[in-house]
Amino acid sequence: MSRKITVENSWVEGAPAYALDEKRGWLRVRVASVAGDKVNVKDGKRKFTVKAKDLQLSSEKALKGIEDMIGLDILHEGAIQNNVEVRYGKKQIYTYVGTILVSINPYEDIPNLYTEETIKQFLLKGANAPPHLYAVSDNVYNQMLSTGKDQSMLISGESGAGKTEATKHCLRYLTHKATENASFDGSNLIKQCIVDVNPVLEAFGNAKTKRNNNSSRFGKLFQVQFDGNGAIVGGNLISYLLEKSRVVKTSKGERGYHIFYQLCKGASKEQVEALSLEDYKEFNYLKKGECFDVDDVDDVEEFKKVCASMLKCGIQEETQSKMFAALAAILHLGNIQFEEKEGGTGENDYGVVSSSSTKSLNVAAILLGINPKVLQESLSQRTMGGGRGSVYKIPLQCKSCMDSRDALCKEMYSMLFAWLIHTINATMASKSTPKNFIAVLDIFGFEVFEQNSFEQLCINYANEVLHQQFIHHYFKLEQEEYATEGLNVEVLQIDQVDNKPVLQLMTAKPVSVFALLEEQCQIARGSDEIFIDRFTECLTKMDEKSSSLASRVKRQPTLFAIKHFAGEVKYEAIGFIEKNKDPLHIDLQNVMNMSAKKNKFMAEVLKFGTTNRKMNTTVIRTFQKQVNGLMELLDKTEPNYVRCIKPNERKAAQQFEGPLVLSQMRYSGLLDSIRIRQAGYAVRRTFEDIIELFGNSKLGRAGKAEGGRQGCLTILQTTMMDQSSYVFGKTKVFFKNVDSYAHLLNEMAAIEHNAAVKVQAMWRQSYEKKKFLHALTCMKHLKNLLITKIHRQRFLKKKEAAIKMQNCFRTFKARKLLELAKKDKVASRRKEFAKRWENAFLCMKKTRENLRNRGWAYKKGGRFGGRRNWHRRYFFLYEDSLSYYRDMDVGDKPLGFKGSAMLTKVEDVFCEKRNSFFFRDKKMSREKTETYILVMKMEGDSEMLLGADNASELDEWKEAIKFAVEEQKLLEQAKTTEDKLPTVDVETVEKMLREVEIKHK
Ligand SMILES: Nc1ncnc2c1ncn2[C@@H]1O[C@H](COP(=O)(O)OP(=O)(O)OP(=O)(O)O)[C@@H](O)[C@H]1O
Ligand SMILES: [Mg+2]
Repeated sequence: MSRKITVENSWVEGAPAYALDEKRGWLRVRVASVAGDKVNVKDGKRKFTVKAKDLQLSSEKALKGIEDMIGLDILHEGAIQNNVEVRYGKKQIYTYVGTILVSINPYEDIPNLYTEETIKQFLLKGANAPPHLYAVSDNVYNQMLSTGKDQSMLISGESGAGKTEATKHCLRYLTHKATENASFDGSNLIKQCIVDVNPVLEAFGNAKTKRNNNSSRFGKLFQVQFDGNGAIVGGNLISYLLEKSRVVKTSKGERGYHIFYQLCKGASKEQVEALSLEDYKEFNYLKKGECFDVDDVDDVEEFKKVCASMLKCGIQEETQSKMFAALAAILHLGNIQFEEKEGGTGENDYGVVSSSSTKSLNVAAILLGINPKVLQESLSQRTMGGGRGSVYKIPLQCKSCMDSRDALCKEMYSMLFAWLIHTINATMASKSTPKNFIAVLDIFGFEVFEQNSFEQLCINYANEVLHQQFIHHYFKLEQEEYATEGLNVEVLQIDQVDNKPVLQLMTAKPVSVFALLEEQCQIARGSDEIFIDRFTECLTKMDEKSSSLASRVKRQPTLFAIKHFAGEVKYEAIGFIEKNKDPLHIDLQNVMNMSAKKNKFMAEVLKFGTTNRKMNTTVIRTFQKQVNGLMELLDKTEPNYVRCIKPNERKAAQQFEGPLVLSQMRYSGLLDSIRIRQAGYAVRRTFEDIIELFGNSKLGRAGKAEGGRQGCLTILQTTMMDQSSYVFGKTKVFFKNVDSYAHLLNEMAAIEHNAAVKVQAMWRQSYEKKKFLHALTCMKHLKNLLITKIHRQRFLKKKEAAIKMQNCFRTFKARKLLELAKKDKVASRRKEFAKRWENAFLCMKKTRENLRNRGWAYKKGGRFGGRRNWHRRYFFLYEDSLSYYRDMDVGDKPLGFKGSAMLTKVEDVFCEKRNSFFFRDKKMSREKTETYILVMKMEGDSEMLLGADNASELDEWKEAIKFAVEEQKLLEQAKTTEDKLPTVDVETVEKMLREVEIKHK
């Protein structure tokens, strides 16, 4: 549906845009890259690809959520969705698109939105008021007074979008506004009725559906009538297409009309008894939907309100009781069941009222004031007219009996509803001829479900008609703007947006959907199948535009499709004829006539029923007439549009579903209003706007200096705009299409871009310079730190080395000193030793001398000795040896040297008691004595034995010899030392000496 208004091939990277997302509608994105006819975009971090046709220019104004979207810099679906969404987020549910008020259902009570105080404020504000139903109502009222022209407020939207609520707010404001008017005569009756009519209408005409807990199942036009001074003098209601079938049939989770539940729950004891309403949950018509309550609604309280409102609307308690009786009768009728009865041989079975339903039948008959038997027969038989005036009755099959029962109930309810409207109208009727009226239309919006039937066809037809009216009105407004601005009005071509071809397809004569349906309803053997076949056949006979909008659905022979202004709808043809004829056979009419005879109220009600309509009339024909009447009425008025939109299907607050909102905008014609614009001059901006657009740029300043038209012209010429792409009006410049305007925006963007690049470059330069200087300082600092560190390390190393060297030197020095000291000590000690040693030596000499010549000895060689040694010998102790001599006198000079034993060879010296043998004389007489001897153990295995005359001498000798041996050893050792002194310690030497000295003193 949407026209491509993007700027082909001119998307630049980073440009803000709206991209169409299946799930979220139009999203604000940034262009990432362009690849042929595809554009890659970024939505925050998410990246996705869209076709170029699904990308639209971004509107800066939409971001702010402006009050009137006609002022958007770029007017298209994306910008509109964006603007509405922004406002919805701020709980600003109302927004204008020129003269149209868009209202998004908040599904929550917004504080202070509809208070008495708010009404007062709007009464004061007048033209400066922000978008609101009160502002529209105020304007409508003022227009009526100032122009003297009747006004209409056309409130449309999907089920649950808030039409009825909006209608109530408008009526409430109008009553306040009119009351404010000085000429109001103070009679509260009509005003009160206008306010109070709503609870009554809603009780009888509204029901809980899946889409709306308080869904109006009829369309209504409320005319508030005013005198020349703007005071309310009367009111009038017109209802359209009440959904009768809801009386007898409700889908699961839905309810029938509220009044049934309110009556059953809220009736007094007496009423319950009189109407037999005890067990209301057993009423078939009520229990079908398996739903008896509506969330947050108290039916008992509502019933009280409705009764009170009916009183204010002129329906007295007595009449109310009669209405309730009729309603109860419908409920009891619904409980009448039928059972099959055999029709005898060859005959079909037929239905009779089941025995369990007798009570319901009787109660219903009593409430209607007719004979139960008559009622039973009327429901189960049909009177047929034979030829030549003969009349006969045929029994009906079970299914037909039930259809009869339901048809009777539907008819009774619709009559009751029509009567109700009529009665209310009578109460509201103006006593004087009203001067003007404001008509508020709360009518079902365009409907497209999975399965669409006759009802949808009628509703969508009405919407097509209203849409045409809207388009023509909008077109006219456009033309007016062109004329005011002095432009050529002919530029606009309504053909592009006009839905005339669809309307012709539906209503033209002799061939159209309605005409063919009527045709089938007239002929005896007409059927839904023939209707759809004929429809397909006749498509070729229609004009090309119309026939292109209809088709038969492939592989589903009973379905046909129509391309409505809001989209294609597939209709199921089966059931069309029955629903269009809406028959009420004669027997049922008789039931009502009979009831009317006994019951005055029913007689009144009957005036509004089928029995009163011409026999050959059909629903379509009646509805078409009504719609035509409505259009005639609206055509005489100045229309004001309120488009109600529901933001989500869950009846939830603060949840905005883009695609759902968009589709409703499409249905409501909002997008068509854009198309009308685009058909002529798509974008228009005041001269000031254009100059403002270029802001403080050089071009902008030039434009400002010149100002107005000339300033604007300078800008357009400087930006090399193609002269054929725009025209100048008196106050505005009109661009042929969005692309032309986009050229201007791109120019501005380029100027901004260049400026931005410059600013960026300068900033970057300064930034980089700062960064560099900072880095440099850091580097210097770092370098210093590094150098310090290196020098310090070097210094520490040197210091360590110096300390080491110092240590070494000091150690060395100390060692030297120590060595010297030690040397000194040793030297002094050796000196002392030498002295002492000298003494000892002297002593020893003396001892030796003492020993010389005093002993005798023999030498024993080997273990057993030699014989020749068996002689006494004398020995002398020399310095280094013990020499022994042959028997001789011991003189100064010993003679007869026999041998010597080197002292150094002496291993041990000890005393022993032994047998001693020696030769006494030359005769070799041997003397054997047992005596002590001194043994000198020599190296090898020899020993020297020394004998003495007494044993004590031996000890002296032993000591002396031992000393001499020691001395000799020490002397020997001393020869090897430097100072020629022995290495033994002096104490040992002295000890030895002492011992020797003691014995040899
Ligand atoms: N302005 C509003 N403020 C708060 N809630 C609202 C407003 N308008 C509508 N609603 C809520 O939405 C519900 C449905 O609104 P309403 O009955 O007016 O819808 P509708 O368009 O008349 O639907 P239908 O076509 O089924 O009759 C209301 O019952 C109410 O809860
Ligand atoms: Mg409604």
